Formats: sequence, structure tokens, C-alpha cells
Amino acid sequence: MDQAANLRKLVFEKKSGGESKTRVIVVTSGKGGVGKTSLSVSLSIALAQEGKSVTLVDADLGLANINVVLGIIPKYNLYHVIKGKKKLKDIIIDVPEGIKIIAGASGFHQIANLEQKQRDSFISSMSELSKDDFLIIDTGAGVSQNVLSFVLAAHEVIVVTTPEPTAITDAYGIIKATVAQNSEKPIKLIVNRAQSSAEGKRVAQRVINIAGQFLNVKVESLGFVYDDLYVPKSVRNQKPFIVGYPKSKSSGCVRMIADKITNKESSPVKNGGVASFLKNLMGNKKMEMDD
Ligand SMILES: Nc1ncnc2c1ncn2[C@@H]1O[C@H](COP(=O)(O)OP(=O)(O)O)[C@@H](O)[C@H]1O
Ligand SMILES: [Mg+2]
Repeated sequence: MDQAANLRKLVFEKKSGGESKTRVIVVTSGKGGVGKTSLSVSLSIALAQEGKSVTLVDADLGLANINVVLGIIPKYNLYHVIKGKKKLKDIIIDVPEGIKIIAGASGFHQIANLEQKQRDSFISSMSELSKDDFLIIDTGAGVSQNVLSFVLAAHEVIVVTTPEPTAITDAYGIIKATVAQNSEKPIKLIVNRAQSSAEGKRVAQRVINIAGQFLNVKVESLGFVYDDLYVPKSVRNQKPFIVGYPKSKSSGCVRMIADKITNKESSPVKNGGVASFLKNLMGNKKMEMDD
């Protein structure tokens, strides 16, 4: 089956299923070390605890570290799927916390350069993910073409910042780079490591105001997460804080963010689904989809 047909099949299956489409959410930041991985893992688990099915993809090409936070050692990654050595189901890891993990390594990155046959088999194997409610992609930091390609392909983008001025400036940078290429992309913000609720809100408001004023774009705040010693402690224990310390302040914040994400009132997703994400990722020209 050719790739356009594969994608059509994906779209069709979803439509005929009548359920809501997979929301593909990319978690990114301008500055490194702001908490993307810690938050992606605990947020995915919080969504699973609300009854959602979630696959979390580690797409930080430099440092594949979701596995470290979870204390697992993946043997295979997307690279093996793309090379046709493994099926997607062989590399998905079901973790006891109730989510599925895909180690990205340099996988996704290469999709655009694949030969037709490899791309076809990759797309058809990805169809498995279209059953999920959420596909969350943890990326590296900074405005690289690689990170931007995920950001532009996803249906929603979560930008993580801390109250540090450098992190705020860099968060603005990634928002600006995104808006420059797609002014319609829903951009959401999490302020991590806030010392107080007032600080969390103030920083969020600042980013929202600057983005509104200079980029004419509406950034939505998903909330904040306290600076909390249980977060680094959980990294050392290799157990996500939402599981190890469910009553911690950080866990409470992450549950509120998960509620906000699942709340139907929050900005609706126009074109959900794994197929549309893949289509965006590979570039529309190559796909010749007619939907
Ligand atoms: N809310 C928080 N409170 C305290 N420390 C945090 C918090 N979030 C993240 N950290 C710490 O910051 C460091 C970087 O976090 P990480 O999730 O790896 O960031 P990134 O993925 O953005 O590089 C880790 O040591 C982590 O424990
Ligand atoms: Mg990370």
C-alpha cells in the first residue's frame, strides 16, 4: 500500500471509530533543563490516571532520558522501526505507571529522508498509536529545525519555562519561531519551579502579554508547578514524582494541569489524529493527501 493510502486508512479508521482523535502534544522549551522531561512523564501519568490512554515519545535526540526518569532500559527505538528491523509494537514499553513509552533516539528525525518503502511501513506501523487519546512528545530545548519540525507537526505545543529571565526570554524565542511559521498553532504555557502561586501566575502573565503584544498571538496558560525538592528526589529514585510522591505540591499542580488539558472547555483541537501529525511531519508536498 502506498503512503497516501496508508494515511487515508489511518484517517478513515479514526473517523469510522467515531471517537475523538488522538491529540498530539509536543512539550518543548527555549532553554534546557527547565523540567520538560520530568513534567512530560508525570503529566502523561496524570492523564492516564484520569482514564486516558497515553503514549509518551522521547524525541530529545541528544539525551534520551525518559527512560532514566522511569528507570527502564529500552533495547530498541524508533530507529529500528524505521529501518524495518522491528515493529512498533515490539519497541513500545508498557510501564507500570499506566502509560506507554517509545524511545525516539534519532528515529523521527530521519523520517523525512526515508525512501518510500521504508516510509510506508513506518506509517502503517504508526497506526497503532491512533487508538490513543494522547501522543505526548518530549523534545530537546532550543530553536533547532528538528525541534521546530515536531512543534509545527503537532496539534498543540506546550512551552515550559521557569521564572528565570533567561528561560523566559528563550520561551519567547521558541514561541516567536513557531508563530513565524504557523500563527494558528495553539501554544500553551507551563511555568515550572515557581516559588509561589503568585510568581507562577505573574510569569505566565508576562509571557502571555509579551507574546500578545509583539507577536499578536494568544498563549494559553496551563498553570504552574512549584519548585519542589521531591522532583529531583524522584529523578534520583527513578520513580516519577506523581507516583512516588502523589501528595507533593508538584503532583497537585500537575494534576491540575492534566485536568485543564482534558477539560473540553480548553481550546478545541481542529485537526487531531496521528495521521495529520505524520502528514505534517513529513511535509505536505510529499504526501499528496487529498483530504
Ligand atoms: N518543579 C521542580 N522543582 C525542582 N526541581 C525541578 C523541577 N522540575 C525539574 N526540576 C529539576 O530540574 C532538572 C532538569 O529537569 P528535566 O526534566 O531533565 O529538564 P529538561 O527535560 O527540560 O532538560 C532535574 O534535575 C529536575 O529534577
Ligand atoms: Mg529532557
